[in-house]
Amino acid sequence: MTSKLFYNIGQLVTNDPLHDGTKLGVIEKAALLIEDGVVAWAGPEDDAPTHHIKKKIDVQGRAVIPGFVDSHNHMIFAGDRSKEFRARMLGESYSAGGIAHTVEKTRAASGETLRANAQSLFAEAYSGGTTTIECKSGYGLTVDDERRSLEIAQEFTDETTFLGAHVVPVEYKSNPKDYVDLVCGQMLEAVLPHAKWIDVFCDKGAFSVEDARTILQAGMRKGLLPRLHANQIQEGGGVRLGVELGVASVDHVSHISVKDIEALSKSKVVATLLPGAEFSTRSAYPDVRPLLEASITVALASDCNPGSSYTTNMPFIIAVAVRDMHFSPEQALWSATLGGAKALLREDVGHLSEGASADFSILKSDSYIHLAYRPGVNLIEEVWRNGLQIR
Ligand code: NIG
Ligand code: FE
Repeated sequence: MTSKLFYNIGQLVTNDPLHDGTKLGVIEKAALLIEDGVVAWAGPEDDAPTHHIKKKIDVQGRAVIPGFVDSHNHMIFAGDRSKEFRARMLGESYSAGGIAHTVEKTRAASGETLRANAQSLFAEAYSGGTTTIECKSGYGLTVDDERRSLEIAQEFTDETTFLGAHVVPVEYKSNPKDYVDLVCGQMLEAVLPHAKWIDVFCDKGAFSVEDARTILQAGMRKGLLPRLHANQIQEGGGVRLGVELGVASVDHVSHISVKDIEALSKSKVVATLLPGAEFSTRSAYPDVRPLLEASITVALASDCNPGSSYTTNMPFIIAVAVRDMHFSPEQALWSATLGGAKALLREDVGHLSEGASADFSILKSDSYIHLAYRPGVNLIEEVWRNGLQIR
């Protein structure tokens, strides 16, 4: 058995309300015992177990937080869209149209190129304190390219999502129904061994509520778990479709109606907000307060993709959420950790209670508030995943 005791932790965020009656479950002057990759004990340092400790690590008064659970990403692609970003910053507005450019580059790329790009994005995310990463396909949009994307994604994470219904590819523009049939039939069959989830971009310029329902149900019949891109570009029926089908999470929800909030509040569906997308498309930020007031579970994710949000950095996402979406620093940290875990239906990550995966970061600072208070500064000193130091 390997056991390590981290002690002299100035502030330990556990996300276990048992410790202090708040969502973050903060323990001051804490210790954390890790055994065989899981949390064996967390509590005040004075109560720490003393037997059978193989190694003691002095955290020197810094803060320790659960690893970020980044539940929404598109990391299998080739090329970039910096010119599109530039044009947007000079006044053009975002539409889903740029996706076609990345599809072209992705189809033309070798598996090695896609793998190397994914490898560098995953490494970048880990070094920013993320320890669980969801990854979608959606830039292949042929049977072989979607399968290839998910095969590669599966080399990096178990949280793989089939997004064949990202947009209708150019070759199907005149017969989009045939593309929906392909996604629900041959493409779905081909990706099944490599995907856990199924997702649809249900929005203007992408797929209608009816098509999204057809596609998600086809995936669910084959055992995939549903999640949904909804209401990014405009308010539509996406959020309510998500509730109707009991998806794990509706993502973006940049435009939300009173009816949507009511539907979500009666369900277990998580609302995942993606501030990086509003930031990089210069769109209006949604306000989290009505969601929280309605007791809806809210997650934060980076939405790393080459078009609308080319970042893997969860501290940046937290800073924007606090600054522009009215998250408290506490809520933002919770949403980026346990919120993300809930959006992925995971109970083993996103918190540091006994039995949880030993996934956590040691900050350079003594308070998690610095994640938002010191934007753009690298505050991640060390990252541990499954009890092993990865940075
Ligand atoms: O989640 N909204 C749809 N998909 C991505 C953007 C994809 C792209 O622009 O390449 C998103 O923001
Ligand atoms: Fe997305």
